[in-house]
Amino acid sequence: MDRIRIQGGTPLSGTIEVSGAKNATLPLMTASLLTPDRLTLTNVPQLEDIRTLARVLVELGVTVEAGLSDLPIFKNGQRPRPRTHRLALTAADIVSTTAPYDLVRKMRASVLVLGPLVARFGEARVSLPGGCAIGPRPVDLHLKGLKALGARIELRDGYVEASAPQGLAGAVIRLPIVSVGATENLLMAATLAHGTTVIENAAREPEVGDLARCLVAMGAEIEGIDTDRLLVRGVKRLHGATYDVVPDRIETGTYAMAAGITGGAIELVGARLGLLAQPAQLMNEAGVDLNETNEGVTARAKNGRLHAVDADTQPYPGFPTDLQAQFMALMATADGRAVVTENIFENRFMHVPELARMGADISVRGSSAIVTGVDRLIGAPVMATDLRASVSLVLAGLAAEGTTTISRVYHLDRGYDRLVEKLAACGAAIERVGDDPR
Ligand code: EPZ
Repeated sequence: MDRIRIQGGTPLSGTIEVSGAKNATLPLMTASLLTPDRLTLTNVPQLEDIRTLARVLVELGVTVEAGLSDLPIFKNGQRPRPRTHRLALTAADIVSTTAPYDLVRKMRASVLVLGPLVARFGEARVSLPGGCAIGPRPVDLHLKGLKALGARIELRDGYVEASAPQGLAGAVIRLPIVSVGATENLLMAATLAHGTTVIENAAREPEVGDLARCLVAMGAEIEGIDTDRLLVRGVKRLHGATYDVVPDRIETGTYAMAAGITGGAIELVGARLGLLAQPAQLMNEAGVDLNETNEGVTARAKNGRLHAVDADTQPYPGFPTDLQAQFMALMATADGRAVVTENIFENRFMHVPELARMGADISVRGSSAIVTGVDRLIGAPVMATDLRASVSLVLAGLAAEGTTTISRVYHLDRGYDRLVEKLAACGAAIERVGDDPR
């Protein structure tokens, strides 16, 4: 297994092309199941998770063609953008409605095939995804919502067996907690249900809005997009569409923090500042200046030391849990004491002991981590444990004195498109090395 080796201390400077959002692309791919026509997605990131979900869809009988999009038309005064990757998905000849355990366990987002399959074919058999490093990750809200839409749900041999031979029927569903995945599964299912569905306390993450806008482009009737109340009028059929995936706000925030932690400046081409919401405000308070430009967003470390700022993860537009580990790394050398509280997942502090190996002073009290800024971090061998914890170790390594070697970097490949290349292009002394002894 590969490792990443970083020689820290270089202020980053340069340009990074921000990719399409992983957490938008995954549900958008499952939306292809709702129609026999072709759904073409552009600005698709090149990630392991995308490839794994493509394998699940191919197993069901979806034709998946990958390629390059046409050269984008760029606004006057903008520099030419590289061609993005494109996926064309056609679910004309579905051969199975079963998503098998060996694929679902690798790609939890496979559970998002459940709603579309039941809605269009009246049946689905999807392996329960099981937990992951950051928590048990139940799907009870997905199942309760599908039941409310009239599906019969049974759990057998670790699989969810859902059926609705007469089709789904619209209903009012109030989600007790904000759930991105449950909102997405139920939104997709509701588009083909008989009658009207209202999803209350719906997730407002930009990736949910992206899915809703794509469904509308496919002929769905949805009101309240980007709000916590989605109203869906079921239609008989959806048709194909071409849809451009929203830029990845978590990737944007991650690289903005890379600029901050190294005292550098990075231009994030293709990024949209408005998608960042609270993290942009906290980074500005901490001493990382974020500004919208014609090309995207610039992130620049103000002079002097970063300031400690508290962060409390919440559903959008609150501070995203997917930036929590990165922000903790940013706070590790800030001036003062920052309290970082994780409210979404049960076990998302696995980066703490690894950051401590690099000299960070962090004490965990329940769901809060108290980060007392130290003058400097020291490079060390560390281990990646989950996607976002891995990248927080990269950030720490970029700022640390000496060499940091990160093992088990396959976690990174799941969610960051060409991370080493993008950082090296900004001056980071970072390389990927093979045969990880651990
Ligand atoms: C999505 O996961 C993202 N994944 C996660 O990103 C992200 O951290 C999360 O939303 C929160 O923003 C994708 O979009 C593919 P949830 P999801 O349902 O949908 C509990 C990354 O790093 N819950 O919003 O699984 C759940 O346990 C990944 O890119 C239930 O109790 O998250 C959690 O505590 C990690 N029952 C909370 O709700 C359910 O049926 C929020 O989970 C569903 C969720």
